[in-house]
Amino acid sequence: MTAPVLEVHLSDSDAADALQHDVRVGLSADPKWLPPKWFYDARGSELFEEITTLPEYYPTRTERELLRRSAEQIAARAAVDTLVELGSGSSEKTRLLLDALAATGSLQRYVPLDVSESALRGAMAAVAREYPALAVHGVVGDFTEHLELLPPSQGGRRLVAFLGGTIGNLLPVERARFFAAVRAALDPGELMLLGAGLVTDPAVMVPAYDDAAGVTAEFNRNVLWVLNRELEGDFDVDAFDHVAVWNAPHGRIEMWLRARHAMTVRLPAVGMTVHYADGEQMRTEISVKFLRTELEAELADAGFADQTCWTDCNDRFALVLAEAA
Ligand code: AVJ
Repeated sequence: MTAPVLEVHLSDSDAADALQHDVRVGLSADPKWLPPKWFYDARGSELFEEITTLPEYYPTRTERELLRRSAEQIAARAAVDTLVELGSGSSEKTRLLLDALAATGSLQRYVPLDVSESALRGAMAAVAREYPALAVHGVVGDFTEHLELLPPSQGGRRLVAFLGGTIGNLLPVERARFFAAVRAALDPGELMLLGAGLVTDPAVMVPAYDDAAGVTAEFNRNVLWVLNRELEGDFDVDAFDHVAVWNAPHGRIEMWLRARHAMTVRLPAVGMTVHYADGEQMRTEISVKFLRTELEAELADAGFADQTCWTDCNDRFALVLAEAA
C-alpha cells in the first residue's frame, strides 16, 4: 500500500477571503442572498448527514439505490484506472462504485476532491484502510475552480463522479461553465457520472426541503451561526424562519430565511451594517430539478456524447454516465 497523498489548493485564508467576498456581494443585493457552500461547517455537515436520513428527503436514498443497480454496468462500460469524486464529502456512496470498479481489475487510484480538508482526511483514511491496493490522492479544492488541477490519467481512463444532486446548487451559467470545465479536464473516451434530481410532484419535493422534524430549518439557519463566528456577526439566529418553495418557472426548490421582525445586524469583520425589514426574505440555496431531456441536451452541448441514463421507478432522480467526445 502506498501512503495517501493530499494536495491542498485552498488555504484557510482563501476560504476566509471567499466568505467575505460572498457576504459583501450577497448581503448588499436585493433580494439578499448567500451561496449554499457556507452551510457546511462541522455542525452544518452533521445536520446535512442527518437530513439524508429523514423520511421526507428522498434524493440520497434514491441515488444510492440507483448506484446499487447500475454500478456493475458503469464499471463494465469502461475499464477505468482512476475514480475522481468531486465534492466527495463523507464518500459513503463511493463504496458502491469502488467495489464495482475494483472488481473489473483495472482500478488503481481514487482521487477525492473536496473543499473541506477535515472531511477529505477522514474519507481518505477510511478508503485507504478498506482498499489497501488502491492509491489514494486527495485534492483540497473547489470543484467550480480547481478542475484543471486534477491529476492526469496514467495511461488508462478516468471516471469523474459528481453525485448527490449538488449540480442543482449551480445557476444555469455556472452549470454550463462547470460542464465545460469537466469536459476540458477529460480526454476523449473518459467519463463523467452525474447524479441529478428530476422535476417531480411539488408535494414530494417541498417536504424534502421542509421536514417535519425541523432539521432542514436548523441546517438553513446554521449559515447565520457561521457568519456570526467567522465575521464577528450578531445575527439573532432564532429571529429567522425557514422557508422552502418550489419556483416552477425556474425549475428549482429555493430555501430562504425570513426575518420575523425588522432588525439591524452588524458584521464588523466585513465592515457592514445590514438592515432587515419585517418579513424580509434572504435566499440561501437553490436546488435545481431537471427535465431528463434538457439535462442530456446540456451535456451534449458541453461535449459529452454517448450517454446512459438510469432513473428510479418514480422518475425523481437520474444518474447519467456520459463520455467525453
Ligand atoms: C447537497 C445540494 C444536494 O440540494 O438537496 C438538502 C442540499 N439542502 N436539504 C440538496 C440540501 C437542503 C442538497 N445538496
